[in-house]
Amino acid sequence: MKALITSGPTHEPIDPVRFIGNRSSGKQGHAIAAAMRDAGFDVTLVTGPVHLPDPEGVTTIHVTTAKEMLNACLAALPTDIVVCAAAVGDWRVENAQDKKIKKDGTGLLTLTLTENPDILHTLSTHLNQRPKLVIGFAAETQNVVEYATAKRLKKKCDWILANEVSDTKGFDAEQNEVTLITDVGTERWARQGKPHIAERLVRKIKLHFDMP
Ligand code: CTP
Repeated sequence: MKALITSGPTHEPIDPVRFIGNRSSGKQGHAIAAAMRDAGFDVTLVTGPVHLPDPEGVTTIHVTTAKEMLNACLAALPTDIVVCAAAVGDWRVENAQDKKIKKDGTGLLTLTLTENPDILHTLSTHLNQRPKLVIGFAAETQNVVEYATAKRLKKKCDWILANEVSDTKGFDAEQNEVTLITDVGTERWARQGKPHIAERLVRKIKLHFDMP
């Protein structure tokens, strides 16, 4: 069976030397890709810029921006499973410059941001190639389960892994604390290392597909 995983942040250019990014390390997404490979899946990993080696035995595609990530995911279809673990930048700079922006003496710089495509929603609502199982994450700083439950419905994915992001949890941390939300309810998983979260998710996926 084929699995597609997104991982890492996206970088949205401001000019050739600057970008808007976020603190995602890619640790959780890469761990899921490796655990899926270990379980025998044929894995494609689409990753934004991270400081992690490409997992062995996984087809890894490197992208920079959200638009590139979306195109790489669409090109990887069809797939049976998709796990969107990337922290996709919600906005890109509409007036990005192809030359380095110089200070103009006003003390101000105005950037116009425009919304990026939603990769998870696009795959969840794909007309003829919707993966059989679409899994997303929900990074929240408050009302974690309530917001993530609403996000699952809005993004039309099958499962969502809700995680609280703070200075010590979630982004760039070694451990993660998640709640799995499906159509049958919620399941809270104790705080544990990201590879353990990945293995637990893979066990759930195998159960879902009645795999031994
Ligand atoms: N996601 C995506 N494409 C985007 C934004 C998010 O595929 N442009 C995916 C993420 O990979 C994750 C899920 O959507 O699986 C939720 O991401 P999150 O950052 O929690 O939510 P947002 O859609 O950004 O909503 P908000 O910032 O309003 O909470």
